[in-house]
Formats: sequence, C-alpha cells, structure tokens
Amino acid sequence: MAQNARKGWFVAKERPEEKFSGNAAKFYSQEGSGYEKNSIKNIQSKILLRGLQLVNFPSNSKLLDVGCGTGLGMEILKELGFKVQGIDVSPDLLKIAKAKKLKVMLGDMRKMPIKDLQFDGIVSISALQWVIGKDGAEGKRDVQVVADEFFRVLTPKGKAIIQFYPKSEDEAMHAGKAFKIAGFKATLQIDNENNAKKRKVYLLLEKKREKNKKEKVGLSLQLPNSQLDPA
Ligand SMILES: C[S@@+](CC[C@H](N)C(=O)[O-])C[C@H]1O[C@@H](n2cnc3c(N)ncnc32)[C@H](O)[C@@H]1O
Repeated sequence: MAQNARKGWFVAKERPEEKFSGNAAKFYSQEGSGYEKNSIKNIQSKILLRGLQLVNFPSNSKLLDVGCGTGLGMEILKELGFKVQGIDVSPDLLKIAKAKKLKVMLGDMRKMPIKDLQFDGIVSISALQWVIGKDGAEGKRDVQVVADEFFRVLTPKGKAIIQFYPKSEDEAMHAGKAFKIAGFKATLQIDNENNAKKRKVYLLLEKKREKNKKEKVGLSLQLPNSQLDPA
C-alpha cells in the first residue's frame, strides 16, 4: 500500500450529503424517481453481493436493510432466501419499495422504531455517509448513536455489513472506532483503495458480548483484509 494512501483521500466533488446537510429525505424527494436506473442497479447490486461475501450470513437469517431506499438490495436478499425488513428516512423512496410489496418502515437509523434484539443481521449499503458526512462534532456524535442502535437491535451473535463513502481515511477509522465502542468486533475492508472512483469501504461487524466502553479502541482494525477478493 502506498505511503500517502494513509494520509487521506482526495474527494473532488461536493457530495449530496454535504450539499443537503445530511437531509436525505429532502435530497431523495427531488432525486427519488431517477434512483432505479440500470446503472445504479448494477452498481448497488455489485456492492451488496461483495458485502455479503465478506459477512457470510447464515441462511434463513432475519436481516434489517438500513437505508433500504427503493428496496434494490432487499429484492436480492429475498431472492437469496433471507427474511428482510427495510428502514429508510425517505418517504419518496419507500413509496417505490412499497409498490414492490417489500416490508419497509419509515425511520431514522439514529433512532429506529424497532425493539431490542430483533435481527440476526444488518445490511447497510451507501447510506451511513448521510449521517457522518457533516463536518465536526455532530457527524462524529451521530455515528456513535447509529453504532449503539445497530448493537441494540441485533441478536447476541448478530453481524452487520456496512458499505459507505467516508471522505477520508480518518473518517473511516472514526466510524470503525464508534462501532468498537458500541460493542462490536469491527473490521474495515477497503477495496481498490488507491482508485478514487472504484474505492469501496466496508465495515464488517460482529457483536461481542460485552461493550467496549473501557477498552482502548482503534488499534485492532484490520486494513485491509486481503484474503477476500475485491469484486
Ligand atoms: C444511496 S441510497 C442507497 C439505497 C439502498 N441501500 C441501495 O443500495 O440502493 C442512500 C439511502 O440512505 C437513506 N438514508 C440517509 N440517511 C438516513 C438515515 N438517517 N436513516 C435511514 N436512512 C437514511 C436515504 O434515504 C437513501 O435511501
């Protein structure tokens, strides 16, 4: 890995989560109907399948798709035999998911209207950056809130796979640490790290029995896990 890759990633374009200050419902009320283009479908399904390869959920797992959008990922998960519930903050995207008869609910990943210990697994594709994309303390605080929520709704042996678009390696590491503090074993997997267009960042999470509040965090994230092939 190149030395300078550790110093941060250059992100040229302003992202929607920055432009809309983290307000996904507003952004997707304008963009919603255009979301299901074939190009987006192809990219999102590739990302999901790579995520599933990393996490390897047992068959029949009951999964929660956080930031499910129009349900592109949920359709694939159902086809693979998983039971799946979706949650999203955008009523406009959920309308499309509901028309496909998918089981979805309106809700924010920071405070999910879901009882404790309900899901064997969580899948979250291209959504977490909406929460951490805000500069400064607010984004940092919110990612910890999300990490605690994920821990709360997962069963004791629950696992999760998150793919997201951090703006820098520091932001990716910070997210990993937040999930460790929440009580997960967290592994950061970065595919195509030195190619800004193809770079994909995954957080692989396994619930541990005890919370990590008193542990030193951040030293055991694995970067990257080269035994698994990038898509
Ligand atoms: C790029 S889309 C990805 C949708 C879907 N996961 C896929 O792969 O097609 C990002 C999604 O995250 C959702 N989202 C953003 N912030 C959220 C939040 N705080 N809680 C729940 N969903 C959120 C957006 O509404 C949007 O549906």
